[in-house]
Amino acid sequence: MNCRDDFPLIKHHACIYLDSAATAQKPLCVIEAMRQFYAEEYGTVHRAIYFLASKATERYSLARIVVQKFLHAASSNEIIFTKGTTEGINLVAASFGSLLAEGDEIIISEMEHHSNIVPWQLLAERNKLVLKVIPMDERGELVLEEYKKLLTTRTKLVAVGHISNVTGTVNPVEEIIQLAHAYGAKVLIDGAQSAPHMRVDVQAMDADFFVFSGHKAFGPTGVGVLYGKLELLQAMPPYQGGGDMITTVTLQKTTYQMPPLRFEAGTPMIAEVMGLAAALEYLNALDLDKICAWEKALLEYATERLLFIPGLRILGTASKKGAIITFVINGVHPLDLGTLLDAKGFAIRTGHLCAQPALRKFGVETAARISFAPYNTFAEIDLFISALKETLLQIGHNSG
Ligand SMILES: Cc1ncc(COP(=O)(O)O)c(C=O)c1O
Repeated sequence: MNCRDDFPLIKHHACIYLDSAATAQKPLCVIEAMRQFYAEEYGTVHRAIYFLASKATERYSLARIVVQKFLHAASSNEIIFTKGTTEGINLVAASFGSLLAEGDEIIISEMEHHSNIVPWQLLAERNKLVLKVIPMDERGELVLEEYKKLLTTRTKLVAVGHISNVTGTVNPVEEIIQLAHAYGAKVLIDGAQSAPHMRVDVQAMDADFFVFSGHKAFGPTGVGVLYGKLELLQAMPPYQGGGDMITTVTLQKTTYQMPPLRFEAGTPMIAEVMGLAAALEYLNALDLDKICAWEKALLEYATERLLFIPGLRILGTASKKGAIITFVINGVHPLDLGTLLDAKGFAIRTGHLCAQPALRKFGVETAARISFAPYNTFAEIDLFISALKETLLQIGHNSG
């Protein structure tokens, strides 16, 4: 896509950046929105009547509407600003989770990122809940027949990723949600890998909760979004206590704001929220359908070329994939590969990818991953494939 010049680091830095699934580079409009806010308009929100504070409060509220529209939520009151996907999931686990009773059941899947596993394990231990896991098959697709068997009338929440950060699998979330709702269970969708790369409509999907991170969506670090259906948020107790989330406080008792403020204790990450709004407007202007099509073409091109490399195995061959390719090469340690490619100017992810159970399913503990964003090009893939072949020669690798 014709957007490379929008990203200062991509434009000026020699490195070929293939790690957008971990964190995406920032367009100038995001950097400028934050600079401008700090340099020209900085003030607190929801706390003071002077001009700067009123203006910041207004812009903060407008940013919430940008997110609402981005996710096609029914109301901006359904949008809670968090630190990121991880905090969004922890918020739901702590708050919605506190309403669950001993013996209630939560379902996650085998392909989840650690941030969609550990909060549920902590909750299950604390509240004596049962945690069940949807298996994935050798292609990296969830086994829906097994999922159907896990659902019971005690299932209260299903928490699954929209797109896997390991296999790139796009999960059939509409079907997963429909099946859960038939049992009265609510569903949280981890949209960390989907929201920046495809059009998301939380109402059409009928998600009860949807979370994503600003920094993967070309926005700043330290900000993310939790979408929750209003009636659910209204029934949920606060997550953290502090300023902004109260209506009255006495030394004996506090009453709380309605959502979303109930869940935003303390001075929020105001500049980051401005940056996130700028990032989402930028994505809208690029057009998420075009981004999705571009990345799909990059994915197919890279997959085809990688498969010519002797001994290379791609983890995850689902029929519907996001622009993520995780791979291992016989006899080559992914960390060695990452280090040698870094020396040639390529930024790729290596390690356990924060998804140890998913990697173990493929029989490995570590892997290498490349992932794409609108600023990546076919020429970069060609350069990457050449560098990869050269690196393998360098370390004396032969098919394995
Ligand atoms: C699928 C998925 N879920 C959750 C997360 C956690 O996101 P964050 O670290 O921004 O909270 C990530 C980040 O890699 C992810 O890929």
